[in-house]
Amino acid sequence: MPVDSLDTIVSLCKRRGFIFQGSEIYGGIGSTWDYGPLGVELKNNVKAAWARAMFRERDDVFPLDSAILMHPEVWVASGHVAGFADPLVDCRNCKKRFRADHIGVAVGAGTPGVPAAQVPCPSCGQRTLTEPRMFNLMFKTFIGPVEEEAAVVYLRPETAQGIFVNFDNVMTTMRRKPPFGIAQIGKAFRNEITPGNFTFRTREFEQMECEFFCPPGTDAEWHLKWVEERFRWYVRYGIKEENLRLREHGKDELAHYAKATFDIEYRFPMGWSELEGIANRTDFDLKQHAKHSGKELAYLDDATGQKVVPYVIEPSAGADRATLAFLIDAYHEEKVRDEKRVVLRLHPALAPTKVAVLPLLRNRPELVEMARGLAARLRPHFATVYDDTASIGRLYRRQDEVGTLLCVTVDVQSLEDRQVTVRDRDTMHQDRIPIERVEAYVRDRVAGN
Ligand code: GAP
Repeated sequence: MPVDSLDTIVSLCKRRGFIFQGSEIYGGIGSTWDYGPLGVELKNNVKAAWARAMFRERDDVFPLDSAILMHPEVWVASGHVAGFADPLVDCRNCKKRFRADHIGVAVGAGTPGVPAAQVPCPSCGQRTLTEPRMFNLMFKTFIGPVEEEAAVVYLRPETAQGIFVNFDNVMTTMRRKPPFGIAQIGKAFRNEITPGNFTFRTREFEQMECEFFCPPGTDAEWHLKWVEERFRWYVRYGIKEENLRLREHGKDELAHYAKATFDIEYRFPMGWSELEGIANRTDFDLKQHAKHSGKELAYLDDATGQKVVPYVIEPSAGADRATLAFLIDAYHEEKVRDEKRVVLRLHPALAPTKVAVLPLLRNRPELVEMARGLAARLRPHFATVYDDTASIGRLYRRQDEVGTLLCVTVDVQSLEDRQVTVRDRDTMHQDRIPIERVEAYVRDRVAGN
């Protein structure tokens, strides 16, 4: 049985140490989440899988890690200072806030919806909503000790701009010309009016973005290639194809920089929602930065001898959203001997723990020593845990629930024949194998066999 409600995942995440509410002991703060021990491993595996597909397995994309704080003019050039805003309405009665366009309030003349005064507050039902006002989503802070207008900097709302400003650095040092791409993973910050749905929409999140620079005229073709490539990535790492779909943006919802955009959507428990956007950003950003910085951002076309500003295709994914989707898609409940078994069928590359070593009896020092010794030998090669804090049935259940690929049990017989029992997460099939073979067995399973 797949997951029917996000609450099931939220509670699993807390119970098993994937994700905790941020600042929980203080009552939390505005939709922030902390990744616990297993969450760190899972999200790192998701990011590593992205990096593998985006630049390790290709020779035309290069990694970058640019600073979060950037020159404030970057955000003027990109259009974020003037235009990165959502329409906000307040309820005068219950003091709640809403995004006007989410509740049917018209944001301006000619936009969909009706005047704010005619719309009942979604929370208290009164017709007491204020007129919409635009609210910039960028977090502001100050550089240096003086809090003055001249010292304002922003926490980046997307990682993309760090890539655009390094276009020339990477092109020159890597001795490349378009088509080539630059990819980076990093934090982004948006003062969202209505965050929610767990880690789906938060104010601080991680993006995995690639800006792929290509000769003008080849952009439409590259766009379709990247849409296909990115869709396949989610399937490759275990998301069921029937839970994914593509949606092309209508002309009225395109971002100011985009000529065309496709969203990859996932069937989340709250409905189909965006996982990743793949936009054709044209030459908008490079031209804007060239204009505002005074530095030429173009390449020399050998055929024509002309300087050309490349077009950009941008596959932009959220690391937190992808992690959430992988978790939801992997979640299964089943009945085994009249008991509920929860199992996370995560792809081997994503599973936070690959192998758990469990002694059948924790009050037998020789067993414990043998099991600990085996775990220590496996640990340099695979994410390994040792656990002896419950009965074997409960230990299996615990590992199933966090997606551990294999459990290795050391029992009294093992002391005599140096054989151990290896149990598979998905089939629950058990093999009895020599302890010396465990490493190869795990390696085989992690490789997907
Ligand atoms: N550079 C383009 C860009 O930032 P976006 O559609 O605004 O485009 C890209 O964001 C991806 O970043 C989204 O598809 C989503 O996965 C993730 N994302 C955006 N806002 C988010 C938020 N508030 N919380 C979590 N993830 C978010």
